[in-house]
Amino acid sequence: MALRLGDIAPDFTAETTQGTINFHEWLGTSWGVLFSHPKDFTPVCTTELGYVAKIKPEFDKRNVKVIGLSVDNVESHLKWEGDIGETQGTPVNFPMIGDPERKVSDLYDMIHPNASDTMTVRSVFVIGPDKKVKLTITYPASTGRNFDEVLRVIDSLQLTAQFKVATPANWKDGGDVIIGAVVSDEEAKVLFPQGWTTVKPYLRVLPQPNK
Ligand code: BEZ
Repeated sequence: MALRLGDIAPDFTAETTQGTINFHEWLGTSWGVLFSHPKDFTPVCTTELGYVAKIKPEFDKRNVKVIGLSVDNVESHLKWEGDIGETQGTPVNFPMIGDPERKVSDLYDMIHPNASDTMTVRSVFVIGPDKKVKLTITYPASTGRNFDEVLRVIDSLQLTAQFKVATPANWKDGGDVIIGAVVSDEEAKVLFPQGWTTVKPYLRVLPQPNK
């Protein structure tokens, strides 16, 4: 069955371009992003891995470890990394799992047979420090992902883990937030003594509390 939000991200041991890793051990107390790409030496994937490598400092700043995967093997990944460095202007600075036996792909339901029997789709899993799945996104092979959106969601996940707030449509770090629907006005007075604007009784808006 597909993984659902709140499920424990399945643990595994796998070969990667940076050696053998045990996933949960490797995550430690960090957040994690596990993402699959369909195949090595393909154009969209090349741009995606280059982009993730470029913005890796943004993941580091948020205490997020990033790891890629495809059903090709580690030897193939390492050869392809040469092309990525050459064409995308950055070395690949995160591990890539080789999964020729599809152990991890099956655990995370990354092969969608009605899309392709042989290739993984473009899955993204964001995993919290509690090892629970916080976000899943699936893109088709023909569409490169928006990794700035992944960072944006991580900002929201980390904020809403710390404060009893939610983030509105198209929110970006620093924007106004919404008091969680389960928070009464009495509790909100204690949590947010700086006050808020009541647009409707169920829509209470305030500046981002940690800014
Ligand atoms: C690509 O990365 O360009 C790609 C990979 C597999 C199928 C289609 C496109």
